Amino acid sequence: MDRYAVIGNPVAHSKSPVIHAAFAAQTGQTLTYAALLAPLDGFAATVAEFRTAGGRGCNVTVPFKLEAFALAARRSPRAQAAGAVNTLMFDAEGIYGDNTDGAGLVRDLTHNLDCPLAGRRVLLLGAGGAARGALLPLLSAGPARLMLANRTVSRAEALAAEFAAAAGNTPLAASGFAELAGAQFDVVINATAASLADQAPPLPPGLYAPGALAYDMMYGRGDTPFLVTARRDGATQLADGLGMLVEQAAESFLLWRGVRPETAPVLAELRRQLG
Ligand code: ATR
Repeated sequence: MDRYAVIGNPVAHSKSPVIHAAFAAQTGQTLTYAALLAPLDGFAATVAEFRTAGGRGCNVTVPFKLEAFALAARRSPRAQAAGAVNTLMFDAEGIYGDNTDGAGLVRDLTHNLDCPLAGRRVLLLGAGGAARGALLPLLSAGPARLMLANRTVSRAEALAAEFAAAAGNTPLAASGFAELAGAQFDVVINATAASLADQAPPLPPGLYAPGALAYDMMYGRGDTPFLVTARRDGATQLADGLGMLVEQAAESFLLWRGVRPETAPVLAELRRQLG
């Protein structure tokens, strides 16, 4: 039987085994999907062991996405741009690395939340790995403009400079939070780690255009301080990152199995379990 896994540390909390089991059942694919705990200094060894044991591919989660990038001899353009890999595929030519996180975000926005990005003003908060991973897919979705804002402005500026060529004609700019005052956006995405600390990025009021959507990549924590503030500030639609989690899994499944699973029933079930 074809074997897949998610490798991380910690990994016991991962919902990926449940999601991929549901995808497999739904599409009639015969496979197993396990959660593998790798020692902090043993990621490459864990991958090698899994491959030897017949593994066909794996997802990679915290803290190994950079190591997975280094391990992949070939990478997709979106993995190359993200500088990180969340999906490995093992084939006759060796290890292929992809990054499905940003595509999962864009698909959640455009397909599940009915929030088109083309022609809209998008604000991306953060300049770490999560923001970087989202940049190329967001730019590819054709926004009217993309603004990067970060607590440490220089990191946002560096990221904007790095993606200037990929942006083409799309205006891509960088800012601190306070300097956003007076600007308006249709979609505001929180890719900072602030929610992990139960904090909200200190945004000026008035950023949300009529009908705007606020999206937090975090999930499973109820309304984060970012979402609470966004609602108070006039965002009409609020979303957490659970849909992104399911959609990135679907993108990985598609890469491995050549078939795109239906995400809606899986997302609904996870939502029900989270209460
Ligand atoms: P990740 O891989 O999750 O993106 P990271 O690379 O450590 O993690 O990046 C964390 C991001 O969250 C950064 O943009 C960070 O801002 P700085 O670059 O200024 O450090 C941001 N961040 C973390 N805590 C924050 C907070 N309390 N308020 C606002 N931004 C925060």
